Amino acid sequence: MTAYEPFIAEATQDRVAVYPGTFDPITMGHLDIIQRALHLFDRVIVAVAKNPAKTPTFSLEERLAMIRACFPGGDPRVEVASVEGLLVDYAYRRGAKALIRGMRAISDFEFEFQMALMNRRLEREVETVFLMTAFRWIYISSSIIKDAARHGGDVSGLVPDHVCERLREKFMKAPAAEPEPRP
Ligand code: COA
Repeated sequence: MTAYEPFIAEATQDRVAVYPGTFDPITMGHLDIIQRALHLFDRVIVAVAKNPAKTPTFSLEERLAMIRACFPGGDPRVEVASVEGLLVDYAYRRGAKALIRGMRAISDFEFEFQMALMNRRLEREVETVFLMTAFRWIYISSSIIKDAARHGGDVSGLVPDHVCERLREKFMKAPAAEPEPRP
């Protein structure tokens, strides 16, 4: 075997990334990160963490279904799976070279930096790749969207339409009424 053969073998393999999160629920910001990760990787595994620490509003099955519904007919480059335990172990088992994380604001930095360093310590074969969240989604998070929806706020455009519908059902609110014209 020549010295460069392992590099050729690696170069011809699919480049796989894992995009982990709670996705409670998926937002347009998350979808933007998935689309952009697909420019860099051949396949992206959207890994939905059970995350009991966060007591999610939507069950794991609901969160998986909402993400899958974002790819009607399925996209062979995108897999949606649930994940439990250490993320880097999961990524390594799935042959992924990278964990994708979206970075929104400075406030995300400290936690993400800590997590990336810990993950690197746990598994050196898996790199963390940060993608800057598109400017138009920089202020949104799943919590803030749920908070607005819970109080009857209109969150259309910030989440896919089917997620908007699920939020409405979850919080049993009628669609936001058109404001009354001022006299
Ligand atoms: N657009 C919009 N919102 C975004 C976003 C983007 N591009 N990127 C992040 N967010 C928001 C999410 O909506 C979420 O908002 P919320 O807190 O209101 O729900 C928040 O940023 C961060 O959530 P998320 O990216 O889902 O991460 P998390 O903090 O819930 O953690 C895991 C999820 C999977 C990364 C974490 O639980 C984990 O690592 N679990 C495995 C255990 C492990 O390996 N631990 C060792 C790590 S060192």
